[in-house]
Amino acid sequence: MFITLEGIEGSGKTTQIVHISEFLESRGYECVLTREPGGTKIGEKIRAILLDPESKDMDPLAELLLYTADRAQHIKELIIPSLSTGKIVLCDRYFDATVVYQGFARGLDIALINSLHKLALNDLKPDITFLLDLPPETGLSRAWKQIDNGTRVGHETRFEKEKLSFHKKVRAGYLELARLEPGRFLIIDASKNENQVKQQIINALREKCLK
Ligand code: TMP
Repeated sequence: MFITLEGIEGSGKTTQIVHISEFLESRGYECVLTREPGGTKIGEKIRAILLDPESKDMDPLAELLLYTADRAQHIKELIIPSLSTGKIVLCDRYFDATVVYQGFARGLDIALINSLHKLALNDLKPDITFLLDLPPETGLSRAWKQIDNGTRVGHETRFEKEKLSFHKKVRAGYLELARLEPGRFLIIDASKNENQVKQQIINALREKCLK
């Protein structure tokens, strides 16, 4: 099974993915935790370029192709081999992030993004996607607090530095994707505290995949 977590900056994906993995492992499932960009050695190098605030003049098409390159490596090296040995892959961001950030927010053609995914990545889609939804004002203030207290990486802030209007488009984009694919997306209210968010996710997992 392939499960992804999506949401704006500061939505708590990185914390919740650990809770999901602990919950599933306590029930005997073997999980692989990974993330995009990153997730492989080559991917980590691509991540450094993508998230460096000094890359602020990156062309949106170059950005799209770097995320796609990261994903191509990730799918081949880690995701497919893990799925084919029966593991649950838990991924912090995946293709929906490209549709939303490069498509809805940067304005690249979504048909182009979808066809690139079909051509280069065999259209591999998650079985379940948790959308951790909250207002961007709340998410960004959480993210900057974590950057200031050192619990979030300070040299990976290219997207946190985008305007509020950008983050509003990201949130609206995610909600639109969830509306289009209600069978795959589970919307979680991420404005609640860590434990309450964890409970919502675990309840959804119990209902949706552990029957
Ligand atoms: P994160 O690992 O802290 O979530 O940071 C990854 C950043 O990269 C985040 O701001 C969203 C952005 N991103 C895209 O713009 N497109 C993508 O396809 C992915 C996977 C992430």
